[in-house]
Amino acid sequence: MNRIVQGDNLEVLREMETESVELIYIDPPFNTGKRQARTQMKTVQDAMGDRVGFGGRRYRTEVLKVQAGGSGYGDQFDDFLGFLRPRLEEAYRVLSAAGSLFFHIDYREVHYCKVMLDEIFGRPCFQNEIIWAYDYGARAKKRWPAKHDNILWYTKDPEQYTFNLDECDRIPYMAPDLVGAEKAAKGKTPTDVWWHTIVSPTGKEKTGYATQKPMGVLERIVKVHSNPGERVLDFFAGSGTTGEAAAKHGREFLMVDQSDDAIRVMKQRLANWL
Ligand SMILES: C[S@@+](CC[C@H](N)C(=O)[O-])C[C@H]1O[C@@H](n2cnc3c(N)ncnc32)[C@H](O)[C@@H]1O
Repeated sequence: MNRIVQGDNLEVLREMETESVELIYIDPPFNTGKRQARTQMKTVQDAMGDRVGFGGRRYRTEVLKVQAGGSGYGDQFDDFLGFLRPRLEEAYRVLSAAGSLFFHIDYREVHYCKVMLDEIFGRPCFQNEIIWAYDYGARAKKRWPAKHDNILWYTKDPEQYTFNLDECDRIPYMAPDLVGAEKAAKGKTPTDVWWHTIVSPTGKEKTGYATQKPMGVLERIVKVHSNPGERVLDFFAGSGTTGEAAAKHGREFLMVDQSDDAIRVMKQRLANWL
């Protein structure tokens, strides 16, 4: 499947087959700043339709409902959840029966997003809130410096899902002297707090894309939560970190982004696997 698709991810998701990917990771931009008109749309397969989707199938779009007054959501924050909800509903649909969604978000928004994801997936399908902790940049002087992001993990099924803990990279013990030389040399598996540095502004990994996330974090997700040959989707793909992690470990990827810059960076970054 290895593909990069440019476009609004909602349209791309609506054209995807149900239960067609095993792993989804997304890192949406907080608050698009756009007012989302409350228009409910439906994409219908139609041989005469004006849009061509996957596999050459044709579709037309039907407007189901436009809100009276039609001006959009109340405030900027409503806008963000209103923007996310239909995309997350589609993400749930396209996820395979034993699939996982990883939702990467800012500590100020995570609580609202969790409530919404609980509604879409069901609370029993919430598995972990992973804290990605780093330590870089300026330090606040009037409160504790916020140096973490949150990654919510949901599974489509509360019991049946991929969790290859043996595939996980290992981390050093905090007190190696207490565990013996053999264990200390092997290291231990991480908890739900993942210490990992940000992408170094001067390092090899850097693509120049401002919001690029570290390969180490994505490789861990891909290796533990999918199997070789499975399909990995990122529909806020940015610089394509998810795609590189997937390809490097023998998974297939579908990367979606609407920005010209993101597509340019990804085409270069993922050229070997396209
Ligand atoms: C925070 S960045 C993702 C960064 C990525 N995780 C990485 O490692 O490079 C979010 C991306 O979402 C894209 N985006 C925002 N709204 C979108 C939409 N409606 N459809 C597709 N892409 C969108 C932006 O262009 C941006 O590249």
